[in-house]
Amino acid sequence: MDQNELKQQVGRKAVEYIQDGMIVGLGTGSTVRYMVDALGQRVQAEHLNITGVTTSLRTTKQAQDLGITIKDIDEVDHIDLTIDGADEIDDDFQGIKGGGGAHLWEKIVATNSNKIMWIVDESKMVHQLGKFPLPVEVIPFGSKHVFDELARKGYKPEFRLADGKKFLTDQKNYVIDLHLGHIGDPFALSDELIKMVGVVEHGFFLDMVNTVIVGRQSGPEVLQ
Ligand code: 5RP
Repeated sequence: MDQNELKQQVGRKAVEYIQDGMIVGLGTGSTVRYMVDALGQRVQAEHLNITGVTTSLRTTKQAQDLGITIKDIDEVDHIDLTIDGADEIDDDFQGIKGGGGAHLWEKIVATNSNKIMWIVDESKMVHQLGKFPLPVEVIPFGSKHVFDELARKGYKPEFRLADGKKFLTDQKNYVIDLHLGHIGDPFALSDELIKMVGVVEHGFFLDMVNTVIVGRQSGPEVLQ
């Protein structure tokens, strides 16, 4: 199986955890895309009453096209389960997300969820975080100064680009990716970054996830 087939495998497995009547947080990314496809199939075939709360405009469009009811996060009083992808997960289940630039809304949805599940192909499982660049979402106003401060700290920042221009999140902010290589203490760095004025959110998702489903050649592995 190639990487996409592994992503599809975990996407399909994850929807087995969705039950009729649930309010489900729908993440963002190529793995989640397979999961939302599979959920759409179940909703149609089984006439399930599922409400989705999405983490990006992309996922909203996909889910609505498949006939899944979508509500804004402020229209629901709880989220039963959020299923999302991840870019790196370490041995302690700490994660980096935001490869798709959706980590701000993803973290808001995750924080308001009773249970969080990540679905990843096996390449995302690492012993130490940091090979994947850590995304930091910053408001455009004064962002060059935030960038310079991150450079002074030695964090090797790089503005994320799309079509030759600065990438804009759904919230119309910029993303600065930090090329750290390895991260010794994610909790300390998380605290440091979130205290910087102009930083809206970063891609660390620490002590958040309940279940990880890993796509492997031998089949999906459920870790809890
Ligand atoms: C988007 C994310 C994604 O979940 C993460 O980047 C994984 O994406 P993919 O499933 O395409 O590998 O955090 O902001």
